[in-house]
Amino acid sequence: MFDNFFQKYSLILVMFLVVGLMGDVVEASGTLVFEDFGTDSYVFEPRGDAESVERSSAAAYTGDYSLLVTERTENWNGPSIRIEDYIEVSREYSISVWVKLAGSSRTDLKLSTQIGEGGGASYQTIDTQTVASNEWVQLSGTYRYDSLGDGFVSVYVESESHPSVDFYIDHFELVLSDSEGGVAVEENLTPLKDIYEDHFLIGNAVSMNEMDGQRLDLLKHHHNLVTAENAMKPEYVYSATREFDFSSQMRLVDRVEEEGLKLHGHVLVWHQQSPEWLHSEGGELLSREEALENMYTHIEEVIKQYGDSVISWEVVNEAMNDNPGDPENWRSMLRRSEWFNTIGDDYVELAFAKAREVLDENGWADVKLYYNDYNDDNQNKATAIYHMIKEVNENHSEEHPGELLIDGVGMQGHYNSGTSVNNVRMSIERFRELGTEIGVTELDVTTASTGELSEEEELAQALLYAELFSLYKEHSDIISRVTFWGLNDSTSWRSERNPLLFDGGLRAKEAYFAVANPEAYIARHSEQVEIERRQARALYGTPDRENGLDELWEQTEELPIDRYQLAWQGARGVGRVLWDEDNLYVLIDVATSSIDITSEEPWEQDSVEVFLEESNEQAESYSAGTSHFRVNAKGGETAGNWTESEVDSNRVFETDEGYRVELVIPWVNLSPVAGDSVGFDLQINDAQSGSRESIASWNDLSGQGYQNPAVFGELVLSAEQGSNGAVGPVTDTFENNISLAVISLGALSTAVISVIFYKLKLKK
Ligand code: XIL
Repeated sequence: MFDNFFQKYSLILVMFLVVGLMGDVVEASGTLVFEDFGTDSYVFEPRGDAESVERSSAAAYTGDYSLLVTERTENWNGPSIRIEDYIEVSREYSISVWVKLAGSSRTDLKLSTQIGEGGGASYQTIDTQTVASNEWVQLSGTYRYDSLGDGFVSVYVESESHPSVDFYIDHFELVLSDSEGGVAVEENLTPLKDIYEDHFLIGNAVSMNEMDGQRLDLLKHHHNLVTAENAMKPEYVYSATREFDFSSQMRLVDRVEEEGLKLHGHVLVWHQQSPEWLHSEGGELLSREEALENMYTHIEEVIKQYGDSVISWEVVNEAMNDNPGDPENWRSMLRRSEWFNTIGDDYVELAFAKAREVLDENGWADVKLYYNDYNDDNQNKATAIYHMIKEVNENHSEEHPGELLIDGVGMQGHYNSGTSVNNVRMSIERFRELGTEIGVTELDVTTASTGELSEEEELAQALLYAELFSLYKEHSDIISRVTFWGLNDSTSWRSERNPLLFDGGLRAKEAYFAVANPEAYIARHSEQVEIERRQARALYGTPDRENGLDELWEQTEELPIDRYQLAWQGARGVGRVLWDEDNLYVLIDVATSSIDITSEEPWEQDSVEVFLEESNEQAESYSAGTSHFRVNAKGGETAGNWTESEVDSNRVFETDEGYRVELVIPWVNLSPVAGDSVGFDLQINDAQSGSRESIASWNDLSGQGYQNPAVFGELVLSAEQGSNGAVGPVTDTFENNISLAVISLGALSTAVISVIFYKLKLKK
C-alpha cells in the first residue's frame, strides 16, 4: 500500500496530529471538539429519563465512533452536554455537530442550547435542518452567551416533530468565534422607554438569562416593564408532588424588583404549559367541580404569592379559536381546550371573577386583569373576543355598576412582514369600543426567509414596525404597554426568522430605528420595500398513481412549506409539482407529530391546501381559473370543485413523520405549454386539540390566499421532462422557436469553434 518509507511515516504523523488535535476533546483556547466521544471530562448525557445515549462504531462522520441516541419518547429527548465551565460570558461561539438518522426516514433535527434550569430557563434554537436517511447533515450556527443563567448552560440535539426517531451525532465543535470579545451595548441609542414615556410602557420577555451582564444592560436601557417568558406559567409553579413551589420564579421576580422594573403576570389559565392533572387524571377529564376547584386554587394561590409585585395579570390566555366562523356566537367559538371541556363555556368568566375576588379581598385594586390572545389582527377572531369581553363585562356591571371585570385586552402581536397594519388598526378600533385598556403583550415580526437577514427583508420588517408604532401612538390613550417578545434575534422563540429589534450581537437593527421614530422612518423608506414572491419550477411528467409513489417525484424541485402565518410554528412540509396537458399533480409531505381532524371547521383540521391562478395575473380576487383546494390528513376533500373521479385519484398516505398527500388538479381554462407560469401556493394547517394552531405556507404570509390571488407565489411549467418514459411537453411555438434557435446557434458556434481548432491543430 505504501510506496515508500516516507509516505508511510508521514501518514502516521498526520494521524497522530489529527487524533491529538481532534481525537476526542481539545480544549485549546476557545475550542472544544468531540470526535470519538471516548473522554469522560466533558460528556454527553441523555436530556430525559427515557432515552439512551451510547458510543457507537456503527457509523462515524469522522474518526471511528459516533454517539447513538435511541429509545427517545419526546422531541426534546437527545444527547446534551453541559458547557458552563467552558464558555466566557458575552463571547460568541460557533457551534456545530453532524447528525445522521439511524434507520430510514426523513425528519427535522435541531441543535439547541439551554441557559438556566427550571422555570427561569431559556431554550434557544441554533439551527434546524431536514435530515434524510443515509446522509450526514451538519447543524451549525453561532450563539453569544451573555449570561450563564443560574450557572447551567447546555447544548443538545433534539427533533422537531418525530419524538421517537433514533439518530447519531458526530464531530461536535464549539469554537470561540468573536476575536475581540463581546460588543458593548450601544448606550448612545435613545432609550425607547424615554421616547414613549408619555405614551405607554415598553416591555420585554425575560428569563434569568436577561438578569445579568450585557443583556441586563440592554434590557434596562430601553425597557421599564417585563413579562416572564415562561417562569410564571402554571407548569412551573408546582413540584412533582403537585405542591406549590415558587422558588425558581421568585428568584426571577426578586431580581426584576431589585432592578426596578415593573412586572406583568403571565399567565393564570391556559391550555398550554400547564400540568395535566389540573383538569385530567389518567387520560380522563375531571368533573366540572373538580376542575373548577383546581382552577380556583391555582388562581388564588398564585395571585397571593405575587401580590402587588405585578401591575397586571393575564387571567386567561388563548381561549378563542383561530379565525372563528361565527364570531358573534362567541361561546361556540371557544377553543375546545381541557378547561372548556371540563368546566364549560363559562370558564373564562369564572376565572376572571375569581381573580377579581382575590384582588379585592387583599386590597390590590390597582392590579389590572387582562384577557390575552394571538392572531388578533384576524377580524373574525377580534370580533369574537370583543363579544366575549363585552358580555362578561356587562354581566359583571349588573352587580357592580361602573366596574369592569376584564380591564384589558392583550393583543399578543406575533406578526410577520406580511401582516396588514390595517387589520391591526381595525382590531384596535373594535377593542376601543369595549372601554377597556389594550396591551400589546408579545410583539415580534418574523421575516419571510430563515437564516441571515437580507437588506430588503430587514427594511420590510422595520417598515412594519414603524407602521405599528405609528398606529400605537395614535391610540396611546388606551394602550398601556408595548412588550416585545424577546430581547434579540438569537434568543427569540422564533429566532430562525430574526423577529426583534436587536441582532445576535445585541446591535440595533433597522427595526430599532423604525420604532424610535416611526413617522420619519416611513417617510424615508416606504418606497423602498418590495419583497419578491417565491418562484419554483414544475417538471413535465405524468405520475403513475396506480402503484406506490412514482419515482418521477424524486426528480422534482422541492418547495419548502415553511413560512409561518401565525404565532405558533407547527407542522411544516415539502411540496412537489408535476404537470402535463391535462393536470397539475401536487405531492405534499407533512411533518407533524399528531393528526387531529376533530374540528367542525375544515380549515381547523390537519390539512393541506393548494392555490392556483392559471392566468398568473396576480388579480386581487378570484375568477374562473383561480382555485383553492383543501384535503385533510385522512383524505377528505374539504374545499375545491372536485369531480368524483378526481376525488378517487387523490391519495393520502401515512408516513413515519406525518402524512403525504398526492393530488390531481385538472386545468380549467389553461391549455398549458412549457414556459407558462401560473400563480401558485401551498399551505399546511396544523390542529391541536380541535383547533388550528399553526399555518405554514410556501409563499404567502398574509393568510389572504383564499380570497386574494395576488399573494400567491409563481410556478413555471418547465419544458424539462421527468424520466419515466412519458412523451415530451407541448411547447409554445414562439418560445419554442426561440429556444430552438438558441440551441441551433449554440450547436453551430460549437461546430465552428471545433473546425477552427481542428484547423489550428493541423497547421502545427
Ligand atoms: C412561548 C415562549 O416564548 C417559549 O419559550 C415557550 O417554549 C413557549 O411559549 N403566546 C404566549 C406565550 O402566550 O407564552 C408564548 O411564549 C408565545 C405565544
